[in-house]
Amino acid sequence: MTADGGLLDAARGAKERAYAPYSEFRVGAALQSTDGRIFTGCNVENASYPVGLCAERVALGTAVASGARRFARLAIASDAETPTPPCGMCRQALSEFGMALEIVSTSREGLCVSWGLEDLLPAHFELEDRGEGADG
Ligand code: THU
Repeated sequence: MTADGGLLDAARGAKERAYAPYSEFRVGAALQSTDGRIFTGCNVENASYPVGLCAERVALGTAVASGARRFARLAIASDAETPTPPCGMCRQALSEFGMALEIVSTSREGLCVSWGLEDLLPAHFELEDRGEGADG
């Protein structure tokens, strides 16, 4: 992916708003729809640990609630030494809206790694053509 600086900056900005007092691992995500809009999310943890939300799914929820369902790119920012890919649950969540998603992740030092969602999740779960995803 040609790492779009604006999208990475949006992810870095979202990371600053992360609520991660338990893991102290802050994550920001910026999801760009095919019409160019950018939706951000950060991880939101909870005292009941499994209730916590990943940055990527917060961004996805924000996007869908705003009427966007077709996505081109996702940027992720964390303070990790090595850029982190989205977790398995987030891969499945993103797959609902199409596999043609370019993902770029940036580390504390600005190192970038990119993947296609298709590479990260070669077989995703679908429920017998009932999902509307990007087409609905
Ligand atoms: N986290 C994300 O926000 N995105 C990922 O893809 C992996 C993990 C968050 C969840 C939790 O708040 C913290 O990072 C540590 O796992």
